[in-house]
Amino acid sequence: MIIDTHCHLDDKQYEEDLDKVLKRAQESGVAGILIPAADINDIQRARTIAHLYSNIYFAVGIHPYHHLQYNESVLREFAKDEKCIAIGECGLDYSRLPEDADEQSVEKEAQKRVFSLHVRLAKELKKPLIVHIRDANDDSKKVLLDEQAGEVGGVLHCYNASEHLLDLADKGFYFGIGGVVTFKNAKKLVEILPKIPLEKLLIETDGPYLSPTPHRGERNEPAYTVLVVEKIAQTLDMSAEDVCNITTKNAMSLFKEFTKTKQDKLNNYFNFKGEKC
Ligand code: NI
Repeated sequence: MIIDTHCHLDDKQYEEDLDKVLKRAQESGVAGILIPAADINDIQRARTIAHLYSNIYFAVGIHPYHHLQYNESVLREFAKDEKCIAIGECGLDYSRLPEDADEQSVEKEAQKRVFSLHVRLAKELKKPLIVHIRDANDDSKKVLLDEQAGEVGGVLHCYNASEHLLDLADKGFYFGIGGVVTFKNAKKLVEILPKIPLEKLLIETDGPYLSPTPHRGERNEPAYTVLVVEKIAQTLDMSAEDVCNITTKNAMSLFKEFTKTKQDKLNNYFNFKGEKC
């Protein structure tokens, strides 16, 4: 049993065949999925999907690419929903900064401000964070520590793993491992993997992006988490079953709602409960 802690099922790329995607997920042992909303215009759809399936939950947040959309009252309204179990995806992403140095610092400051606001909201609402970090390890860590984000903890969903982030494991943070770990050029992540405490590992797809090998370049989907589990098992010299058991337990301790996930419900939990969205 696998819990996919990060899949953008609200993305348009799943609109046509969400049912089939979830059926394949279920057949592969995926027992629960968390949809982190990233764009203010998609939160409604994330919520709708979460309400159609009992073991799908959502999180509210604004991805750093869209930080200008930040609207706290909208996030607060959605966060009241019983199926909203986390705040995110939020964080810092310096991979697409403008070239001009002044514009760069304005952009960085704006991202940091919005990220801090997410952390404060998460603490106030007592929900864990889903944090996106790309080319911004130092500043991300600084915001998390300055804002005392460890009070709620969360998951670091990171593309470029860094030794520098590892000590956040002691501050209540988990590490989301996805398809990148299967890439030939993911040496850094494979090297760091054994240094992440086992009780802090989580599985994610980040679908529709970052499909694992051999599906690289195609749309990603929760069923492919099996490939991520296999690669982690191989790297850590463990059985795939142990990786599933440990990461599922971890997901349940961070996102308590998944403890309602029961094996005996697996046969029907991905069935529609309502109208098509
Ligand atoms: Ni994402």
